[in-house]
Amino acid sequence: MSTDTHVSNRWSSRYAYILAATGAAVGLGNIWKFPYIMGENGGGAFVFVYLICVLLIGIPVMMAEVVIGKRGRSTPANAVAHVATEAGHSSHWSIIGTMGVLAGFLILSFYIVIAGWAAAYVFYAGSGEFSSAAADPATNAEAIGTLFGNLVSSVPQLLVWTTLTMTAVIYVISKGVKGGLETAVTYLMPALLVLLVAIMTYSAVVGDFAAAFSFMFDIDFSKLTIEGVLVALGHAFFTLSLASGIMMVYGAYLPDGVSIAKTSIMIAIADTMVALIAGLAIYPIVFAHGLEPSAGPGLLFQSLPIAFGSMPMGDVVGTVFFVMIVFAAFTSAIALLEATAAYLEERQGMPRVKAAITAGIAIWICSLGTVFSLAGTEWAQINFGFMGSNIFDMLDYLTANILMPLGGLLISVFVGWIMKTEVIKEEFNLAQWQFTTVMVLLRWVAPLGILFVFANSVGLLDVIK
Ligand code: TRP
Repeated sequence: MSTDTHVSNRWSSRYAYILAATGAAVGLGNIWKFPYIMGENGGGAFVFVYLICVLLIGIPVMMAEVVIGKRGRSTPANAVAHVATEAGHSSHWSIIGTMGVLAGFLILSFYIVIAGWAAAYVFYAGSGEFSSAAADPATNAEAIGTLFGNLVSSVPQLLVWTTLTMTAVIYVISKGVKGGLETAVTYLMPALLVLLVAIMTYSAVVGDFAAAFSFMFDIDFSKLTIEGVLVALGHAFFTLSLASGIMMVYGAYLPDGVSIAKTSIMIAIADTMVALIAGLAIYPIVFAHGLEPSAGPGLLFQSLPIAFGSMPMGDVVGTVFFVMIVFAAFTSAIALLEATAAYLEERQGMPRVKAAITAGIAIWICSLGTVFSLAGTEWAQINFGFMGSNIFDMLDYLTANILMPLGGLLISVFVGWIMKTEVIKEEFNLAQWQFTTVMVLLRWVAPLGILFVFANSVGLLDVIK
């Protein structure tokens, strides 16, 4: 195996690692995706299943990825291969790393389009669109709906925003100027959390908080389908940035002596909090203005601007909010492009700049599928059966509901059954009962849980019955 991918740098502190990993975890998944998929899948019962998935599958799989990275001290595919051969197994397990790169590639192709929406909204907020829409409260929701509708139905606008955002991401990756950005994010992420709490408080006061709360936390399993369970499972992976290589990369930089279990739990808690707060900020407005919880991907963009429109200094608050969303999305997008770029660098021997540009252009071309899906262009409205009715739906389904759970399954099996137990034990450094719990989760609960949800959602269990 080549040694040129060996990682010798380390995070400067435990805190630096937690911030970076939380930065990759918190993104559009929390603020844009979680609220709308919760709405589409019936609310409370979905939230409950999602929390169970984070706890019993997400956290152990995160620990597993970090331990692979840390032990392999190398980029994902090589780290897996290294750890596998160390335990006397085939280096073909490196497919786990490769699958992660593929998932990241496909995710970025639609992620970048949504990041582009957020960038467009910075300008809408800044130019007073929200407050002018709120001039007549009776038509406020409708006016904001039209604003969003005009954006997503305009191919030229979508192309401009997507291309601008993608260019910025390519620039950062090719120049390797991430340092300054990471420092900025260190301040912006906590600021985003504070702002979200403030917005949540405002919507609680002016909106229908009681309805929002009971929608999110009253558990009514009759509203949940097996499809919803698969979405919740897939989202646990998506939101924690699992099965896309990144946590292995970050694990490779982990200094000795940092607790993998504690930090994973902290990252998962921070990430979940942001998602729940985003939901509690959005839903009071949704219910107060008679919007549909099942409005789909436009939910964030059609609800909060109503609140900004009526809020004192709402145009300023709205601008700041969308700037922060752009940053949160941007850091995730950078991590996602880095995965493909690094892959091209290592495997194809491309120089840095060429790898960044090649990866970026390839992903930009794929992003056209999402742009035209959302704009309603006919060629992109292909019916993929259970995977949805356009290219965007298909990419979302393929990554979150198939590739990531499958990657998670392989990762848990790999660490649970293939990697040397003494090695894991040494790396986790837990009390015996804690170690046993994590191993039971990795050996049995995660793989069987994922298989069970898969089997159920393709209707296998019905056939057996
Ligand atoms: N967790 C990110 C979000 O919630 C999305 C994501 C998935 C991601 N995989 C990733 C981000 C890998 C960075 C790297 O928005």
